[in-house]
Amino acid sequence: MSVPKNSEATSGLEWREPPIFERGAPGRSAVSLGPSDVPAVDVRQALGALARKEPAALPEVSEPEAVRHFVRLSQWNFSIDTQFYPLGSCTMKHNPKVNEWAARLPGFAQAHPLMPPHLIAGALELMVALQAQIAEITGMDGVSLQPAAGAQGELTGLMMIRAHHRAEGRSPRKVFIPDSAHGTNPASSTLNGFDSVAFPSGPNGVVEPEALVRALDSAPGDVAALMMTNPNTLGLYEQAMPKLTELVHARGGLVYGDGANMNAVLGRARPGDAGVDVIQLNLHKTFTTPHGGGGPGSGPVAFKRILAPFQPVPVVRMDGERVVVDHDAPQSVGRVRSFFGNFGMMVRAYTYMRELGPEGLADVSNLAVLNARYVAARLAEHYPLAYQTPALHEAVFTDRDLEAATGVKTLDVAKRLIDYGMHPPTVYFPLVVRGALMVEPTETETKQTLDAFVAAMVEIAREARENPELVKQAPHVTRLGRLDEARAARKPRLRWSREPKQA
Ligand SMILES: Cc1ncc(COP(=O)(O)O)c(C=O)c1O
Repeated sequence: MSVPKNSEATSGLEWREPPIFERGAPGRSAVSLGPSDVPAVDVRQALGALARKEPAALPEVSEPEAVRHFVRLSQWNFSIDTQFYPLGSCTMKHNPKVNEWAARLPGFAQAHPLMPPHLIAGALELMVALQAQIAEITGMDGVSLQPAAGAQGELTGLMMIRAHHRAEGRSPRKVFIPDSAHGTNPASSTLNGFDSVAFPSGPNGVVEPEALVRALDSAPGDVAALMMTNPNTLGLYEQAMPKLTELVHARGGLVYGDGANMNAVLGRARPGDAGVDVIQLNLHKTFTTPHGGGGPGSGPVAFKRILAPFQPVPVVRMDGERVVVDHDAPQSVGRVRSFFGNFGMMVRAYTYMRELGPEGLADVSNLAVLNARYVAARLAEHYPLAYQTPALHEAVFTDRDLEAATGVKTLDVAKRLIDYGMHPPTVYFPLVVRGALMVEPTETETKQTLDAFVAAMVEIAREARENPELVKQAPHVTRLGRLDEARAARKPRLRWSREPKQA
């Protein structure tokens, strides 16, 4: 009875699956190797003191055991390939399959990063072309593709700002960050040895120049940078950006733009034109590369000419007709990632940009905004919007009224959505919104999918009024119900051991 009638999800058959170490048997194997055609070596003698005392406790499984293990685990997942996944701020975009085709072309996939440049000229030229496209999209002069994620792009950009100040014989320490920012902003600033100074955004959810002036004037002569996300983490466009950058430049600081939300303004606004000096893009958010679950990502950093001497090495650039890998950059902040960064992600992003072209990319933003506004307009009477300012690519609701009337909170709504076969939106972020439910549909979802989502949310609001316990106990169709998330985060058990540990 707790499985909603109109849900796409069912309580289908799923398997318990132990860690793979608990499968298999000694001597079992999934490979059959031919006879060795190289001389036998006594491994213990060859490795000396480095030889293992005990064999590694690797699983010994047959091929079907290995395949079933991983397929079963994959079936426990929610994924963009199986469900609507409106995770605000994270931008879970569809990953076009043509990107995967391109990334697997043997010339790209089998290139080794230590090959000499003349043997990987095609791969390097793709990097140069991608740099040029990103520079054009952001309104910047140069791009480094090296950082492996948005957060590492932030770190790199701030390192470049610090190096710039040093080169001018200054060492200002304060980085100003509005309270709506993503947590990685203060983290990147602190990791760089700066002092992060939070200041409040205005009642409309955007930064007001007066508030910035007050903050900047609290640290005369010590302004290193302003970090601004635009569109910000509420999905709102920071209209005052040109004024804000002017205020910071007038005090000797530079402006770091967090470009994680470029998805909303492609072809419409260029941060460089608004005075931003350095910005990162999250290729997995704006340019459809896979998120990768903490795995290989890419967060290129684009910068104005004054910061070019400080970009990471090696610099991949054209020298006339020839592509070169340039290590000669004495003021560079150094290398931030091994080799060239995550090249496969660059191929995917490049493919996406070439497939869509400038007009297609502008349409991406138009549709992303249209979809978010459609959801906002249809749901606002059931879940109040956090701000009345029209948002771009995401819609942020609050549980304020629902909780007051029914006791049902954001977390309960999110869990109940799983019973409707949908991934929950981002919850309790941004922190400036009470009980935030942050919905980002993205541009590829159809009206039918959005209507199904709206219907599920309206139905959950009705359930909350009529049977709040049903919502508070959700999810009901999953293999596991509510987990102790705080304990999982604070006392994670991440290693398998033969001896079961006391919980
Ligand atoms: C506004 C903003 N900045 C930075 C990041 C960090 O990017 P990444 O997860 O690639 O490190 C995110 C991630 O979603 C973000 O939304």
